[in-house]
Amino acid sequence: MMYERLARFLIENLDFENVSTILEAGCGTGQLTIPFVRKVMRIKSTFKVIALDLSTGPYKGHLDVLKTRLRRERLKGLITPVNADVRDMHVIADESVDLIVSNETLCELDRNGLEKAIREFYRVLKSGGQMVHGELIQAFENNAQRLVIEANLHSLETSLPKPEWVSPFSDEVAALLHKTGFRDLTVKYFETNLSFRSFSVAMRKLKQWHVDPKFVKEHLQDIKKYGLEYPMEHLIFCRK
Ligand SMILES: C[S@@+](CC[C@H](N)C(=O)[O-])C[C@H]1O[C@@H](n2cnc3c(N)ncnc32)[C@H](O)[C@@H]1O
Repeated sequence: MMYERLARFLIENLDFENVSTILEAGCGTGQLTIPFVRKVMRIKSTFKVIALDLSTGPYKGHLDVLKTRLRRERLKGLITPVNADVRDMHVIADESVDLIVSNETLCELDRNGLEKAIREFYRVLKSGGQMVHGELIQAFENNAQRLVIEANLHSLETSLPKPEWVSPFSDEVAALLHKTGFRDLTVKYFETNLSFRSFSVAMRKLKQWHVDPKFVKEHLQDIKKYGLEYPMEHLIFCRK
């Protein structure tokens, strides 16, 4: 449900008139890719999508899951899964993409990686092309959101090098984008409306996110009392 709404949010805030090649950076198993592409199909008849992911560490095998889903959903002709690193996308030619989309991918990179990725995005995007990056914000509105942010900081996932943030702040990303040459920067906020109030579901999520059992033990009472809730997302839109 959240990805359906996020896909709609993207469609409402992007201009598809001159878009024929879309790159999704860090597509994972296609959680956003598939609802997004289905919605683009309603407004455009000819376009193609490169679904790029490193598919390693905690995300090993995710691109294979995507491939299976694409076969099942008959989207193989439209979406091409590519196993590559956003910090070095040599498989993608200069100025070959009209739109770059990513969701919760920049948070996987450290500062150096983020700079490299932004330079790569600039290289592959056509002049006048659009780009949008979505990330969970690090500010919390209540205790359930505070728990999600803190749990994230105590994740034992083996994404290396480990970034110093849960998500990079939108101001930091905006400054880097601007320095690289992107223009028309706008930040919008998306209400994720995703919460896990039931204790057992919250515990299952913390396990899935590989949160340090020590953190979970120390916060058991709060998890029982508040559950977990995603904070809002910021989406940074810009053009080359
Ligand atoms: C938190 S998941 C988000 C997945 C999906 N975009 C979503 O919104 O649910 C982060 C994704 O970024 C991918 N990723 C992490 N580092 C990457 C890198 N350097 N290059 C390409 N993909 C990367 C991971 O494999 C994973 O699929």
